[in-house]
Amino acid sequence: MISAQNIIKTYGNKTKKTQILNNISLTIADRSFTVILGASGSGKSTLLNILSGLERPDSGSIRYADTDITFLSDSQLTEFRKEKIGFVFQQYYLLPNMTAEQNIRMGADLAGNPDYRETIRAVGLENERKKYPDELSGGEQQRVSIARALAKKPDFLFLDEPTGALDEKTGRQILAYIADIHQRCGVTMILVTHNQNIAEMADTVIRMNSGRIETEQKNQTKKTAYEIAW
Ligand SMILES: Nc1ncnc2c1ncn2[C@@H]1O[C@H](COP(=O)(O)OP(=O)(O)OP(=O)(O)O)[C@@H](O)[C@H]1O
Ligand SMILES: [Mg+2]
Repeated sequence: MISAQNIIKTYGNKTKKTQILNNISLTIADRSFTVILGASGSGKSTLLNILSGLERPDSGSIRYADTDITFLSDSQLTEFRKEKIGFVFQQYYLLPNMTAEQNIRMGADLAGNPDYRETIRAVGLENERKKYPDELSGGEQQRVSIARALAKKPDFLFLDEPTGALDEKTGRQILAYIADIHQRCGVTMILVTHNQNIAEMADTVIRMNSGRIETEQKNQTKKTAYEIAW
């Protein structure tokens, strides 16, 4: 379980401070699929970065089971992230001078997982594996970035607008794949989006507004990537 308590984050200097996260508390159950919804600028990416240990809050605590990651040193935090956390960025952040296969393998090596080839097959990139990122379509690049995160076999997978840059057909494919991984791998998934329709696929939906959580709701039934509106 992830439990965040009273997270506060501000940017700026002494004369002008802007509060980005305003006392956020939430819990995320193991193996659940949570969607965080909110308008542009509401603080979704900042929250995702802080929950996953990419950034540190000004105050508040983030516990993963028995570990409060805000008490970890930078090197301990890096180690923790390496072992437990996968992250998929909206802009992919693939290494341009590495092939699809090398990018994915890097994720696997980080976690000492020898069977990265299985992940390449799972995302249907066998024929594309020798290509460099600039030779791949947006959807293929996003699949590489998801495969790179999954090759680590993370316990927790964070996804920031994974379909934000994709057309409907590719977006649905990626979402179907993500939902399938969630079912098969038992990974805890937290996905950020401004697309309300995607929220219908989740177990839990958290709505953010101006750095606060407005509502949290559980879905009684979940839709598939092909049932939601686009
Ligand atoms: N490094 C930074 N320095 C200063 N301000 C920042 C920084 N990062 C984010 N912000 C500000 O914090 C607010 C929240 O940003 P954040 O990226 O978390 O929003 P978001 O909900 O992810 O938006 P979007 O849907 O557009 O991605 C914005 O007003 C943004 O300008
Ligand atoms: Mg964002």
